[in-house]
Amino acid sequence: MIKVSILGTGNVATHLFKAFSSSEEIEIIQVVGRNTKALLAFGHNTNTTSNFTDLKVSDIYIIALSDNSIKTVSEQLTKNNALIVHTSGSTPMAELSKHKRHGVFYPLQTFSKTTEVDFKKVPICLEAKKKEDMALLKKLANLVSNYSYEIDTEQRKSLHLSAVFVNNFTNHLYQMGSDLCKEHNVPFKILSPLIQETARKIETLSPFDAQTGPARRGDSKTITNHLEQLKNPEFKAIYKLLSKSIQTTYGKKL
Ligand SMILES: NC(=O)c1ccc[n+]([C@@H]2O[C@H](COP(=O)([O-])OP(=O)(O)OC[C@H]3O[C@@H](n4cnc5c(N)ncnc54)[C@H](OP(=O)(O)O)[C@@H]3O)[C@@H](O)[C@H]2O)c1
Repeated sequence: MIKVSILGTGNVATHLFKAFSSSEEIEIIQVVGRNTKALLAFGHNTNTTSNFTDLKVSDIYIIALSDNSIKTVSEQLTKNNALIVHTSGSTPMAELSKHKRHGVFYPLQTFSKTTEVDFKKVPICLEAKKKEDMALLKKLANLVSNYSYEIDTEQRKSLHLSAVFVNNFTNHLYQMGSDLCKEHNVPFKILSPLIQETARKIETLSPFDAQTGPARRGDSKTITNHLEQLKNPEFKAIYKLLSKSIQTTYGKKL
């Protein structure tokens, strides 16, 4: 049995709580959060507190707090012999170095409190200062997910940056597509199979091989027409920039 305490009551804390609750080999000892209203959602069968210096004994303390507060809050924790980890993609493990035993338990997925996630499919990126703590984190990760990876701070930083491109920027492009559809009274959901197929295709093809479209083909006439169609100067600039990047990648002259 692994005894775990969760610090935080936000998106990640909520999903970790749910995933840990579903394993008979994990005991959630406590949920700690400054937001007493948010704590209520965790308190049916679990001890909760808003006092970060009133922690019960656990094997692992998981800090699922905003990136900005990880260092400061971790330094208030008095459990100096316990394993303390954070869940952040962009925060160095060394921010927890006040504690002898420290590490990272980063679930690489986008989490919102109200959206269901199949945690078994979430890759967990693990880092630990001590070898025996890596073994403990692996054991915990393998109880809730089918995918765990040893990833150091530098690698995690590049994964997080890459995630901004493949998730946040892609989603912003959906937003732009949705605006263009709205402008002309076309339902955005007609594009849904295309969105699904684009994501599915890179399971078997590299993103390099999967690229299609006018910039990849060098179809300058279509590109000129698209640019004339675009009224929003920001959309125009992004269209030009991405087309130029595709052109450079494939050595096409437009
Ligand atoms: N959401 C994701 O998709 C995702 C995915 C992977 C990793 N992560 C990482 O997981 C961590 C948590 O993210 P999240 O999305 O769960 O954030 P969130 O929903 O905004 O929750 C943040 C939590 O931190 C608390 N908090 C903020 N500042 C604090 C302070 N100074 N002292 C004490 N508590 C404080 C908040 O309390 P209040 O409610 O009182 O503000 C809340 O409980 C971050 O490191 C993030 O990078 C997020």
